[in-house]
Amino acid sequence: MKLLVTGGTGYIGTHTCVELLDQGHQVVVIDNLSNSKLGALERVATITNKKLGDGQNLIDDLIFHRTDIRDRIALQEIFQSHNIDAVIHFAGLKAVGESVHKPLEYYANNVTGTIILLEEMARANLSTIIFSSTATVYGDPETVPILESFPTGGITNPYARSKLIIEEILKDLHKADPSWKICLLRYFNPVGAHPSGLIGEDPSGIPNNLMPYISQVALGKLEKLKIFGNDYATRDGTGVRDYIHVVDLVKGHLAALDYLHTKKSILSIFNLGTGRGSSVYEMVRAFEQASGKPIPYEVVERRVGDVAEYWASTEYAERVLGWKAQYNLQTMCEDTWRWQQKNIENKKML
Ligand code: NAD
Ligand code: UFG
Repeated sequence: MKLLVTGGTGYIGTHTCVELLDQGHQVVVIDNLSNSKLGALERVATITNKKLGDGQNLIDDLIFHRTDIRDRIALQEIFQSHNIDAVIHFAGLKAVGESVHKPLEYYANNVTGTIILLEEMARANLSTIIFSSTATVYGDPETVPILESFPTGGITNPYARSKLIIEEILKDLHKADPSWKICLLRYFNPVGAHPSGLIGEDPSGIPNNLMPYISQVALGKLEKLKIFGNDYATRDGTGVRDYIHVVDLVKGHLAALDYLHTKKSILSIFNLGTGRGSSVYEMVRAFEQASGKPIPYEVVERRVGDVAEYWASTEYAERVLGWKAQYNLQTMCEDTWRWQQKNIENKKML
């Protein structure tokens, strides 16, 4: 198949490109490079032993176009020149805190961008899309594990709301035109990196999320981890989340792609998680073990908007997609640590 991957130079996008290319698919990436660098896609080419093309040669397996998803003309040109079978849509802004201060930017980029992409897909008679959603659309669930049938809502920030709005738009679109084939994938907490250590998550500035923060403490770039509260009603008082290795997460996309391929009309929602929750203290210990480095920490106030605990029910994805996450916390931490160390070496060489 030939896939259009929006946001394909980002963290999850690059890992997806690797897996798609390894499976023999052709990949056209569009990204405006607002939160990533082209170098990441060059590493994808290295890992997969492919040439990175600029679109001049349409038969290249991996092609990059620097394009914003809101650029209709560019999208039309891409859909005209490439015979795309399906779209995997990662492009979007994702910083929860920033979204509170820049709501219009988030809605314009994520919601308007997705509408334009969908309109241009429709114009090109292309109706298969996988959308990156998030477990935060469930808000603060009454019970765990979270099933796909749980209500959505109780959202506290524009980022998560932009994802829920897009989900609703996609549902309406499918109702209006059942020829669409759509998967909404609700990610729990993606972490880890490709085992090669060549690609991974590389946030600019001080990381907001736990795993990148811990790794920078282990590297000595940050002094200590701030644990946002240890008085939650959880087994050790710290927040519990369902961390999933990014390679497992990506394999969930390939399973979704196969599933959509067998359907004439479908809108399905799947959780992508492991079904296991880990606390912040457990994450700290696991990373200390993987890296051999101490992770100094202090417990501070709870972070506004955080919920105590959640993890996925994976039963539906297992049954329908035949997909199940394989990697444990140790592998997630080891792969993150390898990537962090190699990334520092690589940056020194630039
Ligand atoms: P990322 O920021 O690394 O990748 C997103 C990519 O999209 C970036 O390369 C960025 O440059 C690009 N982009 C942003 N706006 C664009 C636009 N208008 N046009 C073209 N390109 C644009 O993020 P990621 O972690 O790889 O996340 C991928 C998707 O998964 C996002 O939609 C995100 O909201 C969603 N998601 C991520 C997580 C997570 O924890 N990483 C969790 C749940 C959902
Ligand atoms: N935490 C700390 N210190 C930190 C960072 C996080 O104690 O410096 C704690 C949090 O309080 C939480 C846990 O670590 O208990 C995980 O926090 P993250 O910020 O890593 O992840 P969240 O579950 O808050 O949210 C993430 C993304 C969202 C996404 C969601 C579900 O930030 O965008 O996962 O996919 F929607």
